[in-house]
Amino acid sequence: MASEITVSVPDLGDFKSVDVIEVLVRVGDTVDIDTPLATLETEKATMDVPSTAAGRVTAVLLMRGDKVVSGAPVVKLESREISGQSSTTPTPAQSAEVIASLPSVPAVVAQVVPVKVPDLGDFKAVDVVDVLVKVGDTVELNTALATLETEKATMDVPSTAEGRVTEVLINRGDKVAAGAVVVMVEASSTPVKAAAVQAPAQPIVATPISVPVEIAVATTKPVAAPQPAAVPPGTPAVRSHLEPGKTPIEDVGFSRAYAGPSVRLLARELGVDLGKVPGTGSKGRITHADVKNWVKQVLATGQLPGSGGGGLPRIATVDFAKFGPVSVEPLTRVQKISGPRLHASWVNIPHVTQYDEADITDLEATRSALKKVTEEKGIKLTPLAFIIRACVQVLKKHPRFNASLDDSGENLVLKRYLHIGFAADTPQGLVVPVLRDADRKDVYEIARDLAALSEKARNGKLTAADMQGGCFTISSLGGIGGTAFTPIINAPEVAILGVSKSSMKPVWNGAAFMPRMMLPLSLSYDHRVIDGASAARFTTDLSRALEDIAALIEAVP
Ligand code: COA
Repeated sequence: MASEITVSVPDLGDFKSVDVIEVLVRVGDTVDIDTPLATLETEKATMDVPSTAAGRVTAVLLMRGDKVVSGAPVVKLESREISGQSSTTPTPAQSAEVIASLPSVPAVVAQVVPVKVPDLGDFKAVDVVDVLVKVGDTVELNTALATLETEKATMDVPSTAEGRVTEVLINRGDKVAAGAVVVMVEASSTPVKAAAVQAPAQPIVATPISVPVEIAVATTKPVAAPQPAAVPPGTPAVRSHLEPGKTPIEDVGFSRAYAGPSVRLLARELGVDLGKVPGTGSKGRITHADVKNWVKQVLATGQLPGSGGGGLPRIATVDFAKFGPVSVEPLTRVQKISGPRLHASWVNIPHVTQYDEADITDLEATRSALKKVTEEKGIKLTPLAFIIRACVQVLKKHPRFNASLDDSGENLVLKRYLHIGFAADTPQGLVVPVLRDADRKDVYEIARDLAALSEKARNGKLTAADMQGGCFTISSLGGIGGTAFTPIINAPEVAILGVSKSSMKPVWNGAAFMPRMMLPLSLSYDHRVIDGASAARFTTDLSRALEDIAALIEAVP
């Protein structure tokens, strides 16, 4: 006969009120005993509320985001009448008892017997990371039925009966305690092999999870406690997280990580050390997306995120479509390549940006005067050509800016050549062609090379060689606008010059304000290699170099 019962939140121990982070059933769903109905979260762990009865859900009485207390109603069920069990609110332990009483066990052959989780030693509840059998499977004594995971190890629950599985009562992701029923087995007709026909009354052989031992066969007679030495540590029954050939997982960090069972399972499957994954969920809880993003980052960068200095907090994943219509546009190939490099530079190099201004009034006057003549020769004399020429002069005076740290990070490799990279905006994305031997070229040759490389970049014709070997990079946004920005160092270089749009400004000359064309400079540098005073001297010298027109246009020997 069907009757309506209410399933409630079990005893939460010390926790007065906990968060509902997931509701797992809807009205109309059919649930069995122990089907997870909702997931609750405390500061320390997540737990599923198991159904204490089988039946059809007629009402769901809580919502994601609610806070609930022990005994709070979870769902109403139109229950399938089973063994006349109570419709009140059994605790998980009580529900295990209910399950144990389910089969009406005949005293002879073909009995249906429960196989339970053995003694777990100090562990009150452990995660089910795998269920290894299904209804209809035939199992033998010691066939592994499920895999459980504690903070220290994984262990298989061996069958204590032989026969056909008629019911599987745990799911991946559940938390189970000692004595919880794993499966019901219709035992085959050899009574001596059928385990614990009067199971609830019989002691199940204790298997402390922290001391791996072989499970003895439970018979109708009480059996002696197993000998810890029967199976040495390291047998397949207990697997360390540190399996050969897999990403090393640090056990303590993994077990302490704030994540639910299914996230732990996913991490284990992907070989991700949860202890290193920053969580973006509520109160820093690690989510499925965090684990997946971690893997993506490793694949993209070839290294463990944050391996250069602690983990990086992740940006929360947002379902933008919840707030309005969206469309998705993939990054270009160039962006996919340059993105991780920019990121690597940003997170590995302590950037400081020195801002300055150069008076280019005279330079602009000279450039205008030369423009017509040079254009006739097919040369477009843009400010960038002069800036490159000025940088070459200053880099010669400040050799630490034309250097890279070696792999050890303890030596500076000083370069005796001067190849200058410049950021070029192309339809495919940002690329950095390299103008070779800039120190051996006058401003006209630099302008010619600049135009040729820019053209190649815009047409997507740059070769790998065109973009290698740079010593120092210039990123000019002068043709577009802006007053200052923070360019990201093109690692392993140690400095980059950002150039913004020049503008006419009133400049005090000691006696009066004069209108001067001022060029904004933004020099980002690697503070491990260059100190602030050196950077300020560099930009001061660069400003002077940009004012010394004669030196800028003189021929290079
Ligand atoms: N202030 C004022 N005007 C400037 C200037 C500055 N700092 N720099 C350039 N200009 C002017 C030029 O004189 C030119 O004007 P003109 O035709 O009247 O002479 C105009 O802006 C366009 O110059 P441009 O074609 O951009 O030449 P360029 O040699 O200065 O720059 C590139 C070449 C490839 C660097 C440039 O086209 C580019 O791609 N810039 C973007 C770089 C970028 O995206 N950086 C960001 C990286 S995060």
